[in-house]
Amino acid sequence: THRGGVGGGRTPHPRPTMREPTKPLSPRPSRGRCRLCGLCLGSALLAIVVSTLAHLLSPPPQPAPSPSFSVVIDGGSTGTRAHVFSLGPDGRPDLARSAVMRVSPGLSSFAADTARAGESLRPLLEFAKDKVGGEGAAAATEVRLMATAGLRLLEESVREAILVSCRNALRASGFRFEDSWAKVIPGSDEGVYAWVAANYAMGTLGGDPHKTIGIIELGGASAQLTFVSDEVLPLELSTNFTFGETTYTLYSNSFLNFGQNAAQDSYREMLKSRGSSKNGTLVDPCAPKGFSHKRKVLARTGGASRSNLENQYVDNGSGNYKECRSSSLMMMQEGKDSRKGSY
Ligand SMILES: *[C@@H]1O[C@H](CO)[C@@H](O)[C@H](O)[C@H]1NC(C)=O
Ligand SMILES: *[C@@H]1O[C@H](CO)[C@@H](O)[C@H](O)[C@H]1NC(C)=O
Ligand SMILES: *[C@@H]1O[C@H](CO)[C@@H](O)[C@H](O)[C@H]1NC(C)=O
Repeated sequence: THRGGVGGGRTPHPRPTMREPTKPLSPRPSRGRCRLCGLCLGSALLAIVVSTLAHLLSPPPQPAPSPSFSVVIDGGSTGTRAHVFSLGPDGRPDLARSAVMRVSPGLSSFAADTARAGESLRPLLEFAKDKVGGEGAAAATEVRLMATAGLRLLEESVREAILVSCRNALRASGFRFEDSWAKVIPGSDEGVYAWVAANYAMGTLGGDPHKTIGIIELGGASAQLTFVSDEVLPLELSTNFTFGETTYTLYSNSFLNFGQNAAQDSYREMLKSRGSSKNGTLVDPCAPKGFSHKRKVLARTGGASRSNLENQYVDNGSGNYKECRSSSLMMMQEGKDSRKGSY
């Protein structure tokens, strides 16, 4: 592991507090496929937990009729999910009645045609409208969009254009929406949300900071590392999170390009550059013998840096543990020398 400023592409921004005055802060990270991760929490759980916390932390609900639903759209690198939370009378989500729908590819795949990004939300919004009970109920329901590393990887102008397209779709959706509710959340916040979810699930949230667990979270495009720390931390890697009476000082960092899909892509690039591909077939020692897979690589960086030739690659596994281990270590070593950082 490694501490210190790695996370590529972080932009300085004021530390967020985890509390918004009245609105439930309902974030949502998104993971890619969960093949390799040791600790991989469902995004639904995460969103639910953070929504719950936001409610716990908000001022007690007063007479005003509280909305019965809350919709959070999670823009991940591999797909976009709509979480429809049904809120109980106490304002907390009623998990049994919450619903989720996912579409793929993710918002970042619209880099070359940003105006169409909003369109991709339409089936999700229709789904959500149906779940909340139609137009009338939608008008009383807030919808938020939180995007993660897929969009963080894009150039700012492209990222903004995608958000603009999404905001247009959300504004026209019939749900309650304000432009500031659609945004790309910083990687460090993503890590904090994952930490909250993990510790909530473990029953360690609310107790002794030193008995909480740290998390390594693998998303599709980025990885997050978050834990309670007593050390003096650089401000941009430090977050104070208050739950009940306890304030947790967290180290939270996000490593762009270190999500599992991004890591596998880098790994394949490395195999190819080392001559492991023959006649359109890439022999992968980390995949089991007999495994064969035609691989479609989606452009992650706006399409410019990846050729379509990659689409023609076939992965064949050779199931060679020693080779897998040494080539994986080699990749991490390469990472160390580059500006991307290290594992
Ligand atoms: C967190 O709280 C501590 C103690 O109150 C303070 O010294 C520190 O500056 C705070 N950090 C952030 C990021 O707000
Ligand atoms: C390479 O692939 C082509 C078509 O898949 C096949 O006709 C050819 O024999 C292969 N060459 C070698 C050296 O395997
Ligand atoms: C890859 O796997 C396929 C299907 O098992 C097999 O037909 C092909 O010969 C393999 N190619 C290489 C280069 O091992």
